[in-house]
Amino acid sequence: MQMDMADASSSSLEEEFRLAQRSSYLRIDLEAVLHNVRVLRSLCSSHTEVMAVLKANATGHGSVAIATHLVNNGIKHFAVATAAEGRDLREAGIQVYIQVFGTSHEDVDILQKFQLTPTVSTPAFLRLWATKHRNANLTVPPVVIKIDTGMSRHGCQPEELQQMMKTSEELGIPVHSLMTHFAVAWEDAEVTQCQLDLFLDTVRPYREQGVKVHVANAPAIIRGFGADLDFVRPGISIYGLPPGDELPVVGRVSMDAITVKMDASFTDLSSAFYVYSDVISHPNSVTNIARALGTIPQEVCSRLSARLPRVYVTGGRHHVPGLRNGHLRHSDQRSW
Ligand SMILES: Cc1ncc(COP(=O)(O)O)c(C=O)c1O
Repeated sequence: MQMDMADASSSSLEEEFRLAQRSSYLRIDLEAVLHNVRVLRSLCSSHTEVMAVLKANATGHGSVAIATHLVNNGIKHFAVATAAEGRDLREAGIQVYIQVFGTSHEDVDILQKFQLTPTVSTPAFLRLWATKHRNANLTVPPVVIKIDTGMSRHGCQPEELQQMMKTSEELGIPVHSLMTHFAVAWEDAEVTQCQLDLFLDTVRPYREQGVKVHVANAPAIIRGFGADLDFVRPGISIYGLPPGDELPVVGRVSMDAITVKMDASFTDLSSAFYVYSDVISHPNSVTNIARALGTIPQEVCSRLSARLPRVYVTGGRHHVPGLRNGHLRHSDQRSW
């Protein structure tokens, strides 16, 4: 692992160390996150809305702080991987639309209680959803129906959509939107175009009736696949990390403590260093670290230890959510 030297001013670094109360912490620039969302949004049609994907605790960055900042800046739609992730956002006071990608029958109580929108692939789930709400004398809330156009992970087959729509109508379940997910939007334009064509063909009759549709993750937005539909769903690209000079690690890595070799030009032993660089070509960019480990950037970020405080930076101010009288509350430590 290489390290980069920080370029932040020493007074703001002192403030960060004071807040984190640890010599190692994660510095998360909320303005950079917002900037990235806005850049991605600028690549879409004017009517297209952003649904920010905050899976895996916002890929390790802390979903509550990220969601709060985005809500305060006009983002009204979020998606998470599990019902428990959605519950964490609701318990932290996020009141806007939250879609859960990985919906299972066991989650239905949490989905109902916290008003989370399920992603549905089977008539059996539609029946369960309707029954659950009818039994409680509640109006049945909307669902998102997912169509598998080649990712082969979740979703009904294109030829099953008609039955899914019919069942939803019979059970009085509003359909918020129809979606699919691209398998290789960055790597393979031909496959992605085929997935998009199949999706648009499949949903055409319902789109004509006003049902909303969405397909694009961040790579697809950048490549221009489905960035003109009703929503886009960027994930990993909304998080960015900063650059600097490289220093070699010496000795053993001990959990979140490491030793780096500084040359004679470094005289200030209190210098701070970035572990990950936001310049994709740097050896310590998340992308290159993931490549070296044989994994994907999402995994590198979401494995960042919950022990490391997240210091959020916005408008020149720093804060660590959950610090009460200088200590983390137990529940905050859990949800990080
Ligand atoms: C259904 C769905 N949409 C969007 C995304 C965001 O993808 P990306 O991080 O490539 O932008 C994900 C992430 O896993 C996903 O599962």
